[in-house]
Formats: sequence, structure tokens, C-alpha cells
Amino acid sequence: MAPTPSTTMPKFKSKFAMHRDGHTNPLVWLVAIICTILAVAVVIAGIVVFIGYIAIHPRVPVISVTNAHLDLLRNDYAGLLQTQISIVVTAKNGNAKAHATFSSITFNLSYQGQDIAMLVAGPFEVPKNSSKDLNYVVQSSSIPLTPDQMEQVGDAWKKNEIKFDFKGAARTQWRVGPFGSVKFLCHLDCDLMFRPINGTYVPSKCTSKSK
Ligand SMILES: *[C@@H]1O[C@H](CO)[C@@H](O)[C@H](O)[C@H]1NC(C)=O
Ligand SMILES: *[C@@H]1O[C@H](CO)[C@@H](O)[C@H](O)[C@H]1NC(C)=O
Ligand SMILES: *[C@@H]1O[C@H](CO)[C@@H](O)[C@H](O)[C@H]1NC(C)=O
Repeated sequence: MAPTPSTTMPKFKSKFAMHRDGHTNPLVWLVAIICTILAVAVVIAGIVVFIGYIAIHPRVPVISVTNAHLDLLRNDYAGLLQTQISIVVTAKNGNAKAHATFSSITFNLSYQGQDIAMLVAGPFEVPKNSSKDLNYVVQSSSIPLTPDQMEQVGDAWKKNEIKFDFKGAARTQWRVGPFGSVKFLCHLDCDLMFRPINGTYVPSKCTSKSK
């Protein structure tokens, strides 16, 4: 049906859209149809990407801290810290169709900017839909603390709460058939919180993000 120009709002009568007889210019229809097709295509592409993301993302290989314990925490008046921490890192491959390889794994443990230890692991494979635990025991004696850091340790004892920074990175890859692989880089950055009194780990979400 041809739109009839409004008599109450003559200002809105468009010179561009109408012929003198009030029919819409076919070119305008063409542009409108192309725009509609493009808009629908963009929406469909968005939905496809979103579904792909939802389907793949939860299965991307991840590393996470699944357990830990503060075995020892001792500080003296000279400003030396002695500690032992057990950390279990789990490498998980949620893909039911491909083996995952984990490599270039490093973790840095630090306290208030003071490096305590660097943990590494050689490359290994995790079969389809399974996981592997890496057990670390970090033993550190005589970590020299600044007066500020000593004060922080004092407060940690008082609050019965101490936090260590745990940063990690790994390369992961899925072998896809004989031809190729999908590679990811994953990063982990979390606080490991413990109760100094009994060494209990206060669990928090500590899982890598992948790119
Ligand atoms: C993956 O493993 C979980 C348990 O670890 C199991 O419940 C699930 O069925 C497995 N999925 C596939 C596709 O094998
Ligand atoms: C750990 O520290 C080393 C040396 O400072 C650095 O090369 C490495 O990239 C660090 N790893 C992470 C995961 O931050
Ligand atoms: C350790 O202490 C905290 C609080 O001080 C308590 O909540 C926790 O249950 C204790 N854990 C164990 C294993 O005793």
C-alpha cells in the first residue's frame, strides 16, 4: 500500500522518499531491503559467534589452584621470613575430543612484592576430558623483609589472615586431527589466602584466563 502524506504534518513530507504521485522510489526500497539483509546477517553472525564461544570456552584448557596449605610461617626480629607452602595446581582439559598439551609453565609466588619462589613444570599431556595435578612444596628460608613488610606480617598474625600473590602462565594446545592444533595462552593471577594460626587455605576462585 502506498503511504499517503499526512495532511496534519506537511513538513514531514519527504522529497527524497516520494515521487510526486506519492509512490515510494524503488531505489529507496532497494536500499531498505539491503539494509535489512545486512542487519539480519550481522545478528546471525553475532549469534553464531556467541554460540561458538559458549560451546568452546568452558572447555578451553585451564590451570587452577585447587588446594594449598601454609605449612610454616615464621618471622624473626631481624626481618627474616621463613615459610613453607604446599600448592596443588590442577591442569584441566575439558575437551572430550582432543588431547591437550601444557607447556612453558611458570608460577611466581611472592609476598607484598617480595619474590619467594618460581615454580616450573616440564611439558605434559592431559588426555581428553581429564586433568592432572601438579604438587608443589615451596620451602623458603631467610627471605629478607623490609620494615614495612615486617609490619604486614605482624598484622597478618593479628588478623589471622595472610595473602600471597600467585601468578602463573602456560601455553596450552589441542591437537586437532593429524593436521593442526589450536593454541592458547593462559594466565593466572590470584591471592592465596591462609589462616596463619593453623595454616588453613581459604579457597577463592583461582583459575586461568585464556587467550
Ligand atoms: C567428562 O568427565 C566427567 C567426569 O570427570 C563425566 O561426568 C563426563 O561424562 C565426561 N564427559 C565426556 C564427554 O566424556
Ligand atoms: C616469573 O618471573 C620470571 C622472572 O622474573 C619471569 O620471567 C616470568 O615471566 C614470571 N612468570 C609469570 C607467570 O609472571
Ligand atoms: C583454622 O582456623 C580457622 C579460623 O581460625 C577455622 O575457621 C578453620 O576451621 C580451622 N581449620 C582447621 C583445619 O582447624
